[in-house]
Amino acid sequence: MPAVDLGLTERRCVVTGASRGIGLATAERLCAEGAHVLLVARGEGDLRSAAKRCDSAPAGSADWMAIDVTQPEAAAEVVACAREQLGGLDVLVNNAGTSAARSLGELTDAEWQAQWELHVMAPMRLMREACEGMAEREWGRVVNVCSSAGKRPSLTNVAYSVTKAAQLSLSRAFADAYAARGVLVNAVAPGAVATELWMQEGGLADQGARARGIAREQVLDDQRAKIPLGRFAEPAEIAAVIVFLCSEQASTVAGAAWSADGGTVPVIL
Ligand SMILES: NC(=O)c1ccc[n+]([C@@H]2O[C@H](COP(=O)([O-])OP(=O)(O)OC[C@H]3O[C@@H](n4cnc5c(N)ncnc54)[C@H](OP(=O)(O)O)[C@@H]3O)[C@@H](O)[C@H]2O)c1
Repeated sequence: MPAVDLGLTERRCVVTGASRGIGLATAERLCAEGAHVLLVARGEGDLRSAAKRCDSAPAGSADWMAIDVTQPEAAAEVVACAREQLGGLDVLVNNAGTSAARSLGELTDAEWQAQWELHVMAPMRLMREACEGMAEREWGRVVNVCSSAGKRPSLTNVAYSVTKAAQLSLSRAFADAYAARGVLVNAVAPGAVATELWMQEGGLADQGARARGIAREQVLDDQRAKIPLGRFAEPAEIAAVIVFLCSEQASTVAGAAWSADGGTVPVIL
């Protein structure tokens, strides 16, 4: 069977939250497809080793930029850096995000605000900064990494659910604004993924165990039981969906919110 050409060779890409997890898997895959990728996150050490991993791919190349995407000037600085280091920007993956197990009563105003800044304002500013340039060249791809929690609220962290729902709406609005000019904006909504967010010491599995007074393994088993597929996704499985949406092959997909959740959210849309 002939290989599917994703048409990503020489494409210039920015991936936020690319130092680990889904973002790193996406950056690696884009590099393997021959793209030039700017990896963005806060932690310099992790970024350095992530870029090295990406650079070991035979085709593309990887640079990195350490910045907090919630800073108001970050979007302009990231896009300027892409122009300088990559010569422009064709693909933007808004992936930086996080959560913590917090009950409705525990969530503070500051935590609500932080989730809003990270999941809505940061991707909004990056799209606002990047999409015009893409539209002038009549080609662009944006993928917003949202969550199944944005489609169906989870009480694990309602601020996460609400801001991920807002990110889905944001993604749709930018899709409507730019599709006619060749910039295709889409969202991916993963369910539970086996990244550090869940699995690292002190991550969501441990937080859930503490909150419910049960073993960490029980929390993970309960989570798997909610997924028709019966298991967590691997970061590379989500990256495969993101990279397809970044590709030439996804040429009629705009404004979609693709579930990649093993069947967790039982809706057809
Ligand atoms: N894992 C899941 O089960 C799951 C499910 C559904 C959706 N998602 C979504 O998928 C995305 C990636 O999740 P993940 O599981 O891969 O998370 P992760 O392993 O915790 O990685 C998060 C990445 O985002 C970066 N980041 C966080 N805050 C940032 C900020 N303010 N500025 C710049 N970079 C920042 C982190 O690096 P630094 O900390 O160094 O900045 C890291 O590179 C998130 O949007 C998340 O909501 C995850």
